[in-house]
Amino acid sequence: MIYKIIRPIIFLLKPELSHELAKAFLKYLPNLTTLFCFNKKYDNLKNKVWDIDFDNPVGLAAGFDKNAELVLILSKFGFGFIEVGTVTLKPQKGNVKPRVFRLKKDKALINRLGFNNLGCNLADSNICKIHHYEHFHPKIDKTILGVNIGKNKETDDYIHDYIELLEHFYIKSSYITINISSPNTKNLRDIQKQDNLDYFLKEIMKVKRDLKAKCLRDVPILLKIAPDLSLKEQKEIAEIVLHHKIDGLIISNTTIDRNLGLCSKNKNEQGGLSGKPLFDKSNEILANFYKLTKGQIPIIGVGGITNANDAYTKIKLGASLVQIYTGFIYEGFSLVEKIKKDLSILIKNDGYKNINEAIGASFNNKN
Ligand SMILES: Cc1cc2nc3c(=O)[nH]c(=O)nc-3n(C[C@H](O)[C@H](O)[C@H](O)COP(=O)(O)O)c2cc1C
Repeated sequence: MIYKIIRPIIFLLKPELSHELAKAFLKYLPNLTTLFCFNKKYDNLKNKVWDIDFDNPVGLAAGFDKNAELVLILSKFGFGFIEVGTVTLKPQKGNVKPRVFRLKKDKALINRLGFNNLGCNLADSNICKIHHYEHFHPKIDKTILGVNIGKNKETDDYIHDYIELLEHFYIKSSYITINISSPNTKNLRDIQKQDNLDYFLKEIMKVKRDLKAKCLRDVPILLKIAPDLSLKEQKEIAEIVLHHKIDGLIISNTTIDRNLGLCSKNKNEQGGLSGKPLFDKSNEILANFYKLTKGQIPIIGVGGITNANDAYTKIKLGASLVQIYTGFIYEGFSLVEKIKKDLSILIKNDGYKNINEAIGASFNNKN
């Protein structure tokens, strides 16, 4: 409600400026912001994935909190988990501004930020502060924290970047996302190609096995993929992730497709499109991957979620968890609680005891 009143004012500002202001508001006025937080729990939304107990399946997607500065505040808005990043090894400024565009009529955004972030050392120290705070406040729920990693723009030896980042964050994360699907870093999406991906994941999983033995902890490694893949590419990727026993998939990143019936004036800006128009496209890939991997790999469904029905659709197509980003730029943070409340009802009304029973229901019913 409050967000609906102030949104027209926020939308008068440039998108990146309003994002920075929102971040400053959260950071410097945490007590004020958390007056609007409830974080209600629903028994039928609890889910265990990768041996992690999620209170609810609604997570914050990567890109909002790139440097892990706001995790403790954001977690008060009711998210079941938070993904920070994309973090790169060295700090980098990203592309020139303007690089984020609103497509108001389409309830969408286009961004070409290019992994602007303060680098892994700063993110690392912020994450240590979170763990420190949670250690000394045992009564508060521990945040489930995913760290999304990517390569620096100038790096040629990308495998080296990902391995260093993996070593850096392994013990400090609930899961790690390997981002090879941003459209805003030149050639990044080429890592998704069959031969590159096979070799890349072989190296990544070798390092993971070593880290698991050394740290005595199994931290899930997830791969975040693009929605712009042909069916042939999807089949190749599915085969490779099954072969290398990747722990999870995030489907999907933003799209470079513009044939999605867009009507806003910024529709031809270069970059990745997110929000409502991405919904069907990311769902198609999600459903394909659920089938191709025979439901053996947990999937986080992301792309165009604006309400509980959208989240439920992704779950029924095979997502064990979901994430949102653009939705709450348009709807505000109360969206998280609203989705949880309505999702809990939808699951109950369909006769499922819990979320786990609903995962892949569309697929199972069809066959
Ligand atoms: C401004 C902006 C920045 C983003 N930055 C990242 C990023 O750094 N890493 C990443 O993996 N995804 C990033 N994303 C993609 C989101 O995590 C998500 O996959 C995508 O926006 C689709 O979800 P949505 O439709 O709910 O926004 C970004 C999205 C937006 C809108």
